[in-house]
Amino acid sequence: MNERKTLKFNESGHLIIGGVKASDLAKKYGTPLYVMDKAHIINVCKAFDNALKSEYGDGMIAYASKAFSCKEIYRIVNSVGIGCDVVSGGELYTAQSVDFPSEKIIFHGNNKTIEELKYALECKVKYVVIDSLSEAEDLDFICQNKGIVQDVLIRVNPGVEAHTHHYIQTAKIDSKFGFAIADGSAVTAVKKVSSYKNLNLVGLHCHIGSQIFERKSFSIAVDKMTDFYKQIRDSLGLEFSVLNLGGGFGIYYTDEDKKYTVEDYTDYVVNIARELKKAIDSKGIKKPYLILEPGRSIVGEAGITLYTVGRIKEIKGIKNYLSIDGGMFDNPRFALYQAKYSVVPVDKGLEKPSKVYTLAGKCCESGDIIAEDCNLPVMTSGDIVAVLSTGAYNYSMASNYNRNRIPAVVMVEDGKDYLAVKPQTFDDVIRNDL
Ligand SMILES: Cc1ncc(COP(=O)(O)O)c(C=O)c1O
Repeated sequence: MNERKTLKFNESGHLIIGGVKASDLAKKYGTPLYVMDKAHIINVCKAFDNALKSEYGDGMIAYASKAFSCKEIYRIVNSVGIGCDVVSGGELYTAQSVDFPSEKIIFHGNNKTIEELKYALECKVKYVVIDSLSEAEDLDFICQNKGIVQDVLIRVNPGVEAHTHHYIQTAKIDSKFGFAIADGSAVTAVKKVSSYKNLNLVGLHCHIGSQIFERKSFSIAVDKMTDFYKQIRDSLGLEFSVLNLGGGFGIYYTDEDKKYTVEDYTDYVVNIARELKKAIDSKGIKKPYLILEPGRSIVGEAGITLYTVGRIKEIKGIKNYLSIDGGMFDNPRFALYQAKYSVVPVDKGLEKPSKVYTLAGKCCESGDIIAEDCNLPVMTSGDIVAVLSTGAYNYSMASNYNRNRIPAVVMVEDGKDYLAVKPQTFDDVIRNDL
């Protein structure tokens, strides 16, 4: 467990998050339950923002809201003054519903629909990130009809190999996203997009993957992108004023990962800012407005999920299953890419781990596992466990699989708790059925 002031066991062995006893939250709201440590989210946002401003200057942290999207997170992020990115009409709608300033919204996606593009223009988002030539053509056409010029970035693929699971590596040459620099398609895209009268091409974007710890991967991305900025200036006479380097900072899930403090996280931003300053000085390119889009590192460790242990199946010498009242419908990441998690017994912090368990979900799928190799004290039915670092890509990936209800999201701060998202009811589950 990566302990911090707002997430730790107390002297009596109870897990405390945001000053609230986790088992009290389980009693009050039921389980499964997503719990988010608001102070931690705010601390990380502020630290990233300060680091960008002080180390680099002109730029913006844009929270990648795909990591966790609901009204309250847009309110929180906005209260800190940073921007956000959205990847669908639904995320944009949610941000708009709480008046998130559109001049701080970046719109991504490899297959934005015409409806979504029109909606993004209506909302007056700051940048649309172009992911294909046909999208550029469509967007220009829509802009012409509306008589507007839209600022755009192009998503390029710098071909950086980041050491992470291949499903979350997005900047390899065979990625579904963007235009590769290596095969010349990025230059072609720059020429084409800059020729459209109703698109104002101000810069480029890249995102090299997710859950990346190596600073070197980001340094290589900075190097490749600034080389490309220079190449474009020298060959086409175009000088870009914006550079968006995406997100992807790695966080703690298990003891195989680094245990970072907020200051350590900030180091990702500091490193990128310094590398970029060095690169623009040595290559003599115009200093771009720098955008970074962290998602997981802002909300990931802030979140935990509480479950109640139900049935226990012990297969002698083989496996001990703890079945919980949640599963892949609230956290599909193990099923998707064998993601690893740490699990703690919320009221048994003083008991020594003595057994290895597999935490199994309640869905009708053998692959519905939340975590393997969990070292825990002897557990009994009715115990509450917390799965740690579930703030990113859990609630946002939840589904009604097996017609399970998506759990509530509770925010905790300074010993107080409040509902950010209501729990679904069975009526919610059948609401759209005819
Ligand atoms: C374009 C873009 N920006 C930012 C992110 C956020 O990445 P992370 O949550 O790893 O910081 C992603 C994640 O997939 C992305 O695709």
